[in-house]
Amino acid sequence: MEFFIDTAIVDEIKEINAWGVLSGVTTNPSLIVASGRDFREVVQEIAEMVGGAISAEVTSLDAEGMIREGQEVAQWSEHVVVKLPLTPAGLQACKALTSQGIKTNVTLCFSVPQALLAARAGATYISPFAGRVDDIGWDGIDLIRQIKEAYVLGGIETKVLAASIRHPMHVVQSALAGADVATIPYKVFTQMIKHPLTQAGLDGFMKDWAKRAGASSETPSSEAGTNPQAGGVDAQGGSKK
Ligand code: E4P
Repeated sequence: MEFFIDTAIVDEIKEINAWGVLSGVTTNPSLIVASGRDFREVVQEIAEMVGGAISAEVTSLDAEGMIREGQEVAQWSEHVVVKLPLTPAGLQACKALTSQGIKTNVTLCFSVPQALLAARAGATYISPFAGRVDDIGWDGIDLIRQIKEAYVLGGIETKVLAASIRHPMHVVQSALAGADVATIPYKVFTQMIKHPLTQAGLDGFMKDWAKRAGASSETPSSEAGTNPQAGGVDAQGGSKK
């Protein structure tokens, strides 16, 4: 499963991109506004930084407007994927833009029938919103699993992009459900990388390294020292208290 980051904040993208794990970025109108940046300028900066697939969403509600906007944003960078809402106009625009060789991400998907329609309209990606489905008491991960199963059975090549990811277990469950991509908020990336045993283990190695012959008396710093969780666990993973 590939990882995209779900933000338009350049500093967040820069930090996670440096880890070497990103295949793309998803934005939406809310995320663009939250970035405080000009739409075109920020999309182009992100595309140059990350490459891969960069989703930029149209804001027209009619098919003609969506097609016009989609054609325009697709010219901003070869990496742009035009994001379209899962409405009749969005499907119509998806079909038209796909036939012009423009990549599309059909978003705001909440059901398998919607996902099947988007695939038939030629979507490159379908974005089921796991977290928002969970929010209404349904099972967002099961939706992803069912969409992937229906696509595999039907020989459909549209990629399943797990969206509205709220925590690291959503990422794990999306991978196990067969998602091709998960788009993950910055905060969840920072949660994914942390483990108290990694931090405590590194702290222990650094303390021992400082004891070698000829080492300076200065205590080496590891990230362990900045992680409040690491303080409660010794180098072997046992509790210090
Ligand atoms: C997907 O591309 C959307 O930008 C995003 O995942 C929506 O997530 P939210 O439900 O946390 O707003």
